Amino acid sequence: MSRIFVLVASLALVPGLAGSELRPLVPPMLDNLSSVNRIGEAVALEQYDQVAQVALELMSRANAMKEIDLESVGIDPARDAQWDAFLQAQRDAAMLVLVAAEKKDPQEVQRATHQLFGNACLGCHATFRDPARLLRPSVHVMTQFLASWRDMNRGLAVNDFNLIETRARELGTLTGVISSDEMLESAFGLGGSKQRRVFRGFLREVTLSAERIQEAAKQEKLVDVLDASLDMWSKGCIACHDKFRR
Ligand code: HEC
Ligand code: HEC
Repeated sequence: MSRIFVLVASLALVPGLAGSELRPLVPPMLDNLSSVNRIGEAVALEQYDQVAQVALELMSRANAMKEIDLESVGIDPARDAQWDAFLQAQRDAAMLVLVAAEKKDPQEVQRATHQLFGNACLGCHATFRDPARLLRPSVHVMTQFLASWRDMNRGLAVNDFNLIETRARELGTLTGVISSDEMLESAFGLGGSKQRRVFRGFLREVTLSAERIQEAAKQEKLVDVLDASLDMWSKGCIACHDKFRR
């Protein structure tokens, strides 16, 4: 169990490390993403007190995001009512997560988490994110990464090893697609051979952990899946973001 505790604790720490020198909204957003991941993992381990803890964090983060000066993050202050409505949606859905955690009901936690994603996260992004960022090829690829990663965690939450395996394979395939010279150049703007080598090194971490996850999922070894998925997150996703995100 102690290994698992370390897993949850270190996921909580990751965004803090990654958060330096980022745009002001990015650190709370990476925390939001990490919260959603932690819900999936905590449910898989039946640690409902952790789920409840994350729900409370999502609520207080929504409160903190209300204090952000909208103009300073490039959002027209006249749209603050709309902004607040999405923050309220985050609080409402997090409250449902909390109630479901208190009932120790995995299906209900999952429904509430989907509501959180749809009404708060995706709703606000569709309304407020800079369209140019949404359309960049690199962001498009990463959105696919995120979707597979998220669904893999959903598999963990509902103990669906088939789903975990499928999504891990998908992540492995995506790294192959991203690795091509053409993709590195056109989507990620990586011209130099040294940069490409470093970038591919991080992709390789994702590929290797994806293979470990597939293997562990086949054997239905939950702790091994979690272990490999933490490696994917820290040595792949976060390590590469630290170096290559603008
Ligand atoms: C009230 C609006 C709002 C809500 C609610 C919201 N986001 Fe965001 N999110 C944004 C905006 C605006 C950005 C773009 C920030 C930027 O590019 O500076 C963003 C960006 C992100 C990013 C990308 C950060 C990056 O490095 O580019 C992630 C990941 C993210 N959000 C996750 C989430 C998750 C998960 C949730 C729900 C639990 C969520 N967000 C809820 C407004 C919101
Ligand atoms: C080899 C490098 C690399 C790896 C590995 C990587 N990413 Fe990314 N990711 C990037 C870069 C570069 C960006 C910035 C794209 C941009 O803004 O043009 C990014 C951006 C993102 C974004 C923000 C997209 C947005 O809407 O702004 C998300 C979410 C994301 N990555 C998720 C993930 C996840 C989840 C993983 C692991 C499963 C992962 N990434 C692994 C390089 C990587």
